[in-house]
Amino acid sequence: MTDDMLAPRPVRDSQSEMAEIVLPNDANPLAALLGGRLMHWIDLAGAMAAHRHSRNYVVTASVDHIDFLVPVRVGDLVILRSSVNRVFHTSMEVGVKVFVENYIADTAQHVASAHLTFVAIDSAGERLKVAAVIPETDEQRRRYDDAGRRREIRRSELERRRKTR
Ligand SMILES: CC(C)(COP(=O)(O)OP(=O)(O)OC[C@H]1O[C@@H](n2cnc3c(N)ncnc32)[C@H](O)[C@@H]1OP(=O)(O)O)[C@@H](O)C(=O)NCCC(=O)NCCS
Repeated sequence: MTDDMLAPRPVRDSQSEMAEIVLPNDANPLAALLGGRLMHWIDLAGAMAAHRHSRNYVVTASVDHIDFLVPVRVGDLVILRSSVNRVFHTSMEVGVKVFVENYIADTAQHVASAHLTFVAIDSAGERLKVAAVIPETDEQRRRYDDAGRRREIRRSELERRRKTR
């Protein structure tokens, strides 16, 4: 790994967008998008931001809870926006926000949000240090601060689960 790879990078460098049209194979018999398919897209959109920031392979370490706010139908356009909220050492929290666009009715609604933690690894599976992220806007600074609080909650939950295993 070169020193350049560990130079801090702004959040905007990791910002990613992914779009999917909901097809019948993505839906249940009532033509509503399957939650599992949306979770898959959220994982991919999150990984895009993590790859762009870390410039390395990443694995998903955890996904915080996801609320599905509105149903999505076959034919809808699903937009997923992601960016790195905060980097710790080898892990980083990525936020993914999902919208549904109905291009006939010209409407857009917030469908879901999720926070995922990715860990950077090399091709042998060894964990790698990740460059710091620089929040530049008020919104990015808020997400950065919130990510620190969420990490503490995750760590204490993980600790509790490890003890009860
Ligand atoms: C994620 C993984 C690399 C962590 O390995 P580990 O031996 O538990 O590593 P450590 O305890 O040293 O933690 C390494 C980092 O991961 C973070 N981490 C580990 N488990 C975590 C979890 N459940 N949620 C969030 N972060 C987690 C740690 O906080 C640490 O972050 P830091 O380096 O930024 O401080 C390992 O559990 C793994 O490979 N899991 C499988 C990942 C995978 O295959 N995902 C695809 C889904 S099948």
